[in-house]
Amino acid sequence: MSELIKVEKRQVLQEKPDQASLTFGEVFTDYMLSFEYSQEKGWHDLKIIPYGPIELSPAAQSIHYGQSVFEGLKAYKHDGEVVLFRPEENFKRINQSLERLKMPQLDEELMLEGLKQLVDVERDWVPDGEGQSLYIRPIVFATQGVLGVHPSHNYKLLIILSPSGSYYGGDALKPTKIYVEDEYVRAVRGGVGFAKVAGNYAASLLAQANANGLGFDQVLWLDGVEQKYVEEVGSMNIFFVINGKVVTPKLNGSILPGITRKTVIELAKSLNYEVEERRISIDEVFELYHSGELEEVFGTGTAAVISPVGELQLKDEKIVINNNETGKVTQELYDHYTGIQSGKLDDPHGWRVEVPRY
Ligand code: COI
Repeated sequence: MSELIKVEKRQVLQEKPDQASLTFGEVFTDYMLSFEYSQEKGWHDLKIIPYGPIELSPAAQSIHYGQSVFEGLKAYKHDGEVVLFRPEENFKRINQSLERLKMPQLDEELMLEGLKQLVDVERDWVPDGEGQSLYIRPIVFATQGVLGVHPSHNYKLLIILSPSGSYYGGDALKPTKIYVEDEYVRAVRGGVGFAKVAGNYAASLLAQANANGLGFDQVLWLDGVEQKYVEEVGSMNIFFVINGKVVTPKLNGSILPGITRKTVIELAKSLNYEVEERRISIDEVFELYHSGELEEVFGTGTAAVISPVGELQLKDEKIVINNNETGKVTQELYDHYTGIQSGKLDDPHGWRVEVPRY
């Protein structure tokens, strides 16, 4: 599609935030992309409108029954140009999430075109400081106002944009402290763990708050059946460096198929690391630590990027990984990953997608 999407202009543009003080996801740009779905018309009325509050029926199915899915991706600025990172992967995944919640599919190409036009309108909002980016949040939610439990007949898609700094605040490579959750579970096979649905994050908040209260940044989830095998962290997939090998839990239906996870696996292989996707139990992780074979642990996510893990606590045992410092492999992957994203390094895999000037 090459037609220009209609832009409903706002009267007054906002003042841009001070780049030096950007946090994660607290400031939003002037415009957002909006798209409507009805049973009669299908997806229609794609437009760029002023960012702001929306009208929603108090009976909307999304707020009662949780029919709501989202995505997260980023835009970067380099040499005055704006690039997206693997955006087609996010639209592929949003369709998988939509399918799981019985919501209507999106045209992936049209969505990518709409996103490029939105980001072009907002290109002056893309920050260029170290570790900064324009965080992009597509969301699709049910809007029909009826209380019967059935798939909604109406939906809305919005894409909102937020100039952001690091997810955990401060230095992106500051090692995080992770609590291994042994009471609550996040997902089970056959459920919605693989999909990026809003409810997965709601279900994580109690354990996350408990862990925060004990001084931890995040929880590490174990499998929902035996609570034995490592799955993922609240907002990241998890990786271990074991005897020089990069190991991560194999996707099993209850783990989110992270796009950063996929990228890091491809990147590690291209840097000649052996990569293993397999089941790994939490007991094995602790045993490997005691035998000196667990060299590094890190998490991956669009928001969190590549984030070293400095401490893991299981019940009353705490292990300190690599002296609570960023490991060599984590650093190397971080440098390559962020270098390709920001344009400082070549992009041999073709992951960057430039935003044209329309
Ligand atoms: C992301 O990494 O983009 C996420 O969606 C995780 C979290 C911020 C919800």
